[in-house]
Amino acid sequence: MFELLYTSVSPEGLTENGLLEIQLEAQKHNASIGVTGMLVYYDREIMQILEGDQETVETLYESICHDERHTLVEVFYSGEIKQRAFSDWSMEVVVLDEGKVKKYLYNDRELGIENPLHNIMKTNPNRGKKTFLSLRDTYY
Ligand SMILES: Cc1cc2nc3c(=O)[nH]c(=O)nc-3n(C[C@H](O)[C@H](O)[C@H](O)COP(=O)(O)O)c2cc1C
Repeated sequence: MFELLYTSVSPEGLTENGLLEIQLEAQKHNASIGVTGMLVYYDREIMQILEGDQETVETLYESICHDERHTLVEVFYSGEIKQRAFSDWSMEVVVLDEGKVKKYLYNDRELGIENPLHNIMKTNPNRGKKTFLSLRDTYY
């Protein structure tokens, strides 16, 4: 079993409908190829975790990379895992607003930084997966 975490940016911003479209597309396709995971969106910032067979995940990531709905797509981490952390979710989309980012990821501190979502992952290597897990436990 393999996991891949990446970050990206939607230059135009994704609307609720735009996100729903991605979610429906992802859920249908991922269920058919045995991929699970979660996509987090906040103010044009995207981060997603994909879990499944390594080759399947890497092939999917390649096609996601070429999707024009986002840019600056960058792998944050990938590697072997013993078991899935998102086994019930073919692709759950969690949309955060400023209040939720502050509350769940910044312990109620002011954000005052650019790209707070990517920032929390990149400035603290241990936080990457934990960020997804704490959101999973909050929203499950
Ligand atoms: C942010 C983002 C996340 C996506 N996540 C997935 C996903 O988890 N699974 C999926 O099948 N497609 C996902 N897509 C859509 C793919 O990029 C792509 O449109 C879809 O796999 C169909 O690809 P194809 O036209 O090459 O078959 C995502 C797109 C975006 C912009």
